[in-house]
Amino acid sequence: MTAFQALKQSLPQEPRVWLVTGAAGFIGSNLVETLLRLEQHVIGLDNFATGYRENLEEVQHYVTPQQWARFRVIEGDIRDLSVCREAVSGVDYVLHQAALGSVPRSLENPILTNENNISGFLNMLVAARDAAVKRFVYAASSSTYGDHPGLPKVENLIGKPLSPYAVTKYVNELYADVFSRCYGFHTIGLRYFNIFGRRQDPNGAYAAVIPKWVASMIKNKPVYINGDGETSRDFCYIDNAVQANLLAATVEDIAATNQVYNIAVGDRTTLNNLFDQCRILLLPNFPHLKEFKPVYRDFRAGDVRHSQADILKAQSFLGYAPSHFIAQGLEESMAWYVKNLA
Ligand SMILES: NC(=O)c1ccc[n+]([C@@H]2O[C@H](COP(=O)([O-])OP(=O)(O)OC[C@H]3O[C@@H](n4cnc5c(N)ncnc54)[C@H](O)[C@@H]3O)[C@@H](O)[C@H]2O)c1
Repeated sequence: MTAFQALKQSLPQEPRVWLVTGAAGFIGSNLVETLLRLEQHVIGLDNFATGYRENLEEVQHYVTPQQWARFRVIEGDIRDLSVCREAVSGVDYVLHQAALGSVPRSLENPILTNENNISGFLNMLVAARDAAVKRFVYAASSSTYGDHPGLPKVENLIGKPLSPYAVTKYVNELYADVFSRCYGFHTIGLRYFNIFGRRQDPNGAYAAVIPKWVASMIKNKPVYINGDGETSRDFCYIDNAVQANLLAATVEDIAATNQVYNIAVGDRTTLNNLFDQCRILLLPNFPHLKEFKPVYRDFRAGDVRHSQADILKAQSFLGYAPSHFIAQGLEESMAWYVKNLA
């Protein structure tokens, strides 16, 4: 059975109505694409702060006209409660992705990050609770582990947050928990660990490491590694994150709800190794990368040294089974970047 067929089996027989916030972003647009391909009805909400209309145009290209006709986009801001209420009307499941990502951005402008990630999140929770949606699945973050030294990271052992961004993502978890206790509202938080893949934005000061490096490699510009390159992360391909969202929205075991789950592959890759894997995958198309070397510079404030998830909880409660390890995910991602950036 393919990963896609497995996803199909996890859904109810009848098509449902899904709201994806942050629909024009990296993870959101991939959720929209998969849901449409699974014949679901989808509403997308986005203010296009960091998302792109081109992402949705690409989705349109990959689905049939009939599937695309089941999609409606609302251009609006989750900081406005009335927009959230409009978006959740008639919705079965909410996949809440809208937020301002990036640790450095939050260090530069903590108020803006707070407004989007905490006030916006609370608006979405209130609107979804009042509309009695069946399940509210939200993007949490591995940054919640903060300064806790344990490896691999287990959901109930967290440290102190290392950035304003991490504070906002932890506050999301606290609010979700309180909404389940006080209002009996069903939520699931997915603590994403370095998700990567097609449509992840390579541009701007706050770009994530893989697209930023790939864009630089393709253009023969310097690739910077913060520190000695032995910093490691649990890089997780987008298809795994999409799978986790669908499972979390539809899991029937009530004991699985009102929880947070690590979403990763449970592996650890150093930045030096990541650099080599990207370079080698791009080499056939870009011969200038044969002798290409990274430029090392100082460690970055707010970064943890190592990160690796224990994914047992998501495996046991949600039936999560990553379809892609890093090598396969990178291969698919590079094919997309070569086609779209070269
Ligand atoms: N990509 C990762 O590795 C990663 C890791 C941990 C957590 N997350 C979380 O996953 C979610 C999605 O991240 P992404 O990587 O797809 O980022 P992204 O920037 O590509 O997507 C976020 C989307 O939300 C939209 N948005 C932001 N503020 C909004 C607002 N006020 N109202 C409406 N829309 C708004 C943006 O325009 C964008 O389209 C975020 O909550 C992020 O914090 C991502």
